[in-house]
Amino acid sequence: MSRSLQRLLIAGAAGFIGSNFVRHLRRTRPEVEITVLDKLTYAGNLANLAEFDAGRGYRFVRGDICDAQVVDSLAAEVDAIVNFAAETHVDRSLMDPFAFIETDVRGTAVLCEAARKHGHEVFLLISTDEVYGDVREGRSKENDPFRPRSPYSASKAAAEHIATAYSESFGLPLLVTRSSNNYGSHQYPEKLVPVLITNAIDGLPLPLYKDGSAVRDYLFVEDNCRAIDHVLHDAPIGSVYNVGTGVETTGLNVAEAVLDIMGKPRSLIEFVADRPGHDYRYALDTSGITELGWEPQVTFAEGLERTVRWYEEHEKWWRPLKSGEYWEYYRRNYRPLVS
Ligand code: NAD
Ligand code: DAU
Repeated sequence: MSRSLQRLLIAGAAGFIGSNFVRHLRRTRPEVEITVLDKLTYAGNLANLAEFDAGRGYRFVRGDICDAQVVDSLAAEVDAIVNFAAETHVDRSLMDPFAFIETDVRGTAVLCEAARKHGHEVFLLISTDEVYGDVREGRSKENDPFRPRSPYSASKAAAEHIATAYSESFGLPLLVTRSSNNYGSHQYPEKLVPVLITNAIDGLPLPLYKDGSAVRDYLFVEDNCRAIDHVLHDAPIGSVYNVGTGVETTGLNVAEAVLDIMGKPRSLIEFVADRPGHDYRYALDTSGITELGWEPQVTFAEGLERTVRWYEEHEKWWRPLKSGEYWEYYRRNYRPLVS
């Protein structure tokens, strides 16, 4: 039995996954009315949503999820909220934890309060596999304890706790997805995959923390959007889903694959100082979402090739992002390897 949600408030959709999700919805459910609420931080980009026409079942509102008045007035006009809005980069959370606590924790609480007040059918929180912390062995299951180790993952874990408290205490109809590392088009070039691709295009060093051995599960963003759609419409209220491919890939694997696709030398790889508190492995048990009927469709080889081609063909999108503040952040973040 599928839920029919005619009017959605999608918070944080000027960013990477949210804009891909809007694109997915416009294609698969064109009748759904979408309101995007986004603060347009450094990671938010109106160019990501430029193809959607205001007035045809789509509108964009610039605003902060921490602003209870704005959130309340928009929540009054929709059936459900999907929350992508967050500060999302682990390295930046080590430089400014409070921005993460404000948006990821307080902002989520403001959205939960509005969803409760207006009697929404669903509240879908986009969470992360990082709430489980470093997983040395085995695979994280949805009921495993949280062991966040960075200000980012602690903020996301706290957001989940707040949303769960709203569900337990006030009956908020909560759904949660915890996905692994997404990659694909429109990803701000601070995360590993677009840093490697855009640096390789410019012949710059490809920085890998320590020895590039940390393991991630790289999920093509369009596969994640299908999973989010499926959970939003078909999952029983109160459920939580890990979303990933089950394939373990090191940073070094990613860098070598990018260079091979682009025909560039592996000598561009540069090992740099490690991320403090680096989680060396995430790995998910995804049997829950598989039982719901979802599975990834795009292999890492295919998805990475498509992603490399997208960045090669969209220099006008990413080049302006790699200027000014970006390089200040970059210089602060990347330090020589100390042995
Ligand atoms: P992103 O950084 O690309 O985009 C975040 C968006 O949120 C931006 O458009 C930004 O302007 C907006 N935003 C930030 N603070 C806001 C505020 N206070 N009010 C309104 N809007 C605000 O992020 P992403 O990579 O697309 O991630 C989206 C969500 O998915 C996040 O909640 C993140 O924690 C989660 N997630 C991401 C990944 C990943 O690999 N990228 C994996 C698992 C979960
Ligand atoms: O796992 C889901 C999470 O994935 C999301 O919740 C986060 O929002 C998202 O940022 C991402 O977090 P990671 O820290 O895993 O992603 P990042 O791309 O920053 O790093 C991926 C791996 O690559 C990690 O082991 C650190 C390493 N790395 C990263 C960068 C930016 C490098 O070796 N060099 C780099 O320059």
